[in-house]
Amino acid sequence: MSAIPDRKTNQPCGTPFGVSPERYQALDEQVETLLRQMTLEEKIGQMNQVAGSRDTTGAPANTEIEEDVRTGRVGSVFNAFGVEFTRELQQQAVGHSRLGIPLLFGYDIIHGFRTIFPIPLAQAASWHLEGIEQATRIMAVEGAAAGVHWTFAPMVDVARDPRWGRVMEGAGEDVLLTSLIARAQVRGIQGSDPDAVDTLAACVKHYAAYGAAEAGREYNTVDMSEWRLREHYLPPFRAALEEGCATVMTAFNTLNAIPATCHPLLLDQILRREWGFEGMVVTDYTAIMELEQHGVAADAAEAARKSVNAGVDMDMQSSYFIDTLSELVRCGQVNEARIDEAARRVLWLKAALGLFDDPYRYADEARETQCILTDEHRRAARTQACESMVLLKNEGFVLPLSDQHQKVALIGPLGNTPRLLGSWRADGDHDDTVTLREGIINRLGEDAVILCAQGVSNEIGDTDTSGIEDALELVRQADAVVLALGEDEAHADEAASRADIGLPGPQLELARRVLAEAGDTPVATVLFNGRPLTLTELDDMAPALLEAWWPGTEGGNAVADVLFGDVNPSGRLPMSFPVSVGQIPIYYNAFNTGRPKGVDPKYASQYLDIPNAPLYPFGFGLSYTTFEYGAIKSACTEIGLEDTLEVSLTVTNTGERDGIEVVQLYLQDVHASVVRPIRELRDFQRLSLAPGQSERVTFRITPEMRSFLNAGLERVQEPGLFRVQIGSSSASGEEIEFRVA
Ligand code: BGC
Repeated sequence: MSAIPDRKTNQPCGTPFGVSPERYQALDEQVETLLRQMTLEEKIGQMNQVAGSRDTTGAPANTEIEEDVRTGRVGSVFNAFGVEFTRELQQQAVGHSRLGIPLLFGYDIIHGFRTIFPIPLAQAASWHLEGIEQATRIMAVEGAAAGVHWTFAPMVDVARDPRWGRVMEGAGEDVLLTSLIARAQVRGIQGSDPDAVDTLAACVKHYAAYGAAEAGREYNTVDMSEWRLREHYLPPFRAALEEGCATVMTAFNTLNAIPATCHPLLLDQILRREWGFEGMVVTDYTAIMELEQHGVAADAAEAARKSVNAGVDMDMQSSYFIDTLSELVRCGQVNEARIDEAARRVLWLKAALGLFDDPYRYADEARETQCILTDEHRRAARTQACESMVLLKNEGFVLPLSDQHQKVALIGPLGNTPRLLGSWRADGDHDDTVTLREGIINRLGEDAVILCAQGVSNEIGDTDTSGIEDALELVRQADAVVLALGEDEAHADEAASRADIGLPGPQLELARRVLAEAGDTPVATVLFNGRPLTLTELDDMAPALLEAWWPGTEGGNAVADVLFGDVNPSGRLPMSFPVSVGQIPIYYNAFNTGRPKGVDPKYASQYLDIPNAPLYPFGFGLSYTTFEYGAIKSACTEIGLEDTLEVSLTVTNTGERDGIEVVQLYLQDVHASVVRPIRELRDFQRLSLAPGQSERVTFRITPEMRSFLNAGLERVQEPGLFRVQIGSSSASGEEIEFRVA
C-alpha cells in the first residue's frame, strides 16, 4: 500500500483515466476536428446537463428534453439509466441533431446500482481497500449494463461533524483513509480501460470542503485557513485524480466567502494550474443558479460568467450556460477560447468512453438482464456488509449468540424492515432486500421461532411508547433478544442534518425497558444508522452493541452471520462517536493546545461536564477474539531527513477464533515550525490470524509520511523528535520515539 498520497503541489496529477500522453493526444485530435465544425451554440450545448426521468420503462417522459437534445442544446443527461430509456434518448441525439454528437448519461451510483452494498461510511469501516475496490467494480458493472456512462462518485469530503447527514456518503474523518479509499473507488469504477463496456467514468466530489459546513448544517458556510484546506480537505481529491478520476464536481458551499462553484483558487489556481487537471468539471445540481442566492451574482448572466470564467465546464441543471453564454461571448465578457476549452473537455470524455465509435455500446439488453443483481454480486455485498460491521461493546461475551437459541425476540423498528439500504441507493429495491428477521430465519432454520415487535418507531419527535408492553411480553417468552435500533434511511442523506444525533423517537426508552425485562436472557443490540450517534446512555445499559450501519441488499443475512458467529466482526470506526453533541466537531488528529487536559486541573482545554475523549474513538472496534501486541522494534533511534525508518512488532491472536485485526500506525511530529496533530494515521495493515497465530508486521516510515505543509504552504519535512504509536485504534497502543537529524 502506498502509505500516503502524494500531496505535493505543482506536480501534474496525471491524465483523465490515466491514459498515455499519446492516447490523450489522439483523442484530442479527434475532438478538435469535430470542434471546428461546431457553432458557438452547439459548443455551449455540450456544456449543458439536464435531468432525465428516472422512469426506465417507455419513452423519455420529458419531451422538452428531447426537443433540446435534437437541437444540440444538451451535452449530458443525468438520472438517466435503463437500456431502453437511454437508447431512445441517444437516438434523438445521434439521429436528429445536426452533428449527431452522442449524449453522456450520468447517474449517482454511490454504493451500488441495483445490488446495494453498505453505505460508503460503512465500507470505510472495513478498512479493506481491495474489498471496496471490488464492491465499486460491481456497481460499475451493473450501472454500465444499464446504459450509464458516468457516475458521480467517489464522494471524498472529509467530515468531522456527524450532524451532517452526508457523512454517510464519505469515508469519515481521516485524510489518509479517505484518500486510499478514493483511489480504490476510482480503480473500481473506471477499471483500466475507459472504453470497456463494463466500466464508468468517475467524478470526484464535492470540490471542496463541503464536509466542513458550520454546525453540520447542510449547505452551510465553510470558513477555514488555506493551510487546513490543503492539508486535510484537498488530499483525497488529489489522490482520486492521481488515480485517473476523469471528472470533478464542484460543491454547494462557500469557502472563505466565495462559493466553490465560482472559486478561482479552487478551480483555476489549484485544480488547473497546480495540479494540471485536464478533465471536465461539472457543477453540483443548480449550483450556478444558487450563486444568486449566495449573493455573488445579480442575475443568470453574472452567475454563468463567474462560474465559467473560474473554470466550470458543465452546468448541471441550472440552464444558465445555455441561456446566457452565447450573449456573454458576443459582448466580450466570456472568451470564446474558454468555451472551446470546456466543450473540448466534454467531447474528449465522450471520445474516451468510445461513444463516437458506437453511441449505443453501453445499451445492451442482454447485459442488462444478465449482469444485474446476480448471485455473485449479492454474495459480494454480503461479504462486504459483514466486513463493515463494528463491534462496539461485548460485555460478558453476549455475542456471538448461540444457534441453539430457538426462540428469539426481535424487538425494535429496524428488525423487520427492508429499509436497510441507506440513502443514495440508485436503483436499489427494498423488495430485493433481506430484512434482519429473514436473515435470522435463514440462519436458524424454519423451526426457530422469531417473535417480532417494533415496540416504538424511529421517527424523529415521535413519543408514542404504547407498543412497548407488547414487546416486553415477547421478551419474557424468548431465550435470546435482539434489539434492532437506529435511524431511518432518510435521516442521513443530502439535506438531512440532525442537531440531536441520539436514537430518534422513543427508542432509548424501549431499550431501557427491554434490557430491564430481559434479566439473564442475553440481549444483543444491533444499530442501523448512517452517521456516528451519541450512544452514551445506551452504552451504559446495553451489554453488547454491534454497529451494522446500513448494510445494503444482503443486510439481514450479513447481520445474522455476525450475530451467530459465522463471521467474526473486524470493522473499525472511520469516525469518532462523540459522548455528546457538545464535543462536535470531534476528530482524533487534533492539536494538543497550549493547556492540554491533565496538566493544570482548572486552566485546561476541557469541558466541566463531559470528557474530551469520544465515547468510541477513531479506529476502534472489537472482535470475538483477542489480539496481543508485542513491543515495537525499530532499526535505529536516529535517522537522516531522506531516510526511511523500519519499525515492526508482533501481533498474536490470543483468543479462540479466527480473526482480522487492523494494525494502525500513527505518527506525531513532536516539535515543528507549525503545530502538528497529536497523532495522524500514516499506515495500517489488515491481518488475518488463526487462534494462537502470530505475525510480524513491518511498517516503513518514509520521508513523505513525515512531511507537512509549513506556514508558507510548502510541503516540507523537518528534523526533530517523532513519536510512533502502533495499536488497534487511535486511542491505544505502544509508543516509541525516534529522531530525525
Ligand atoms: C448532490 C450531488 C449529486 C447531484 C446529482 C446533488 O444534489 O449534491 O452529490 O451528484 O445532486 O444527483
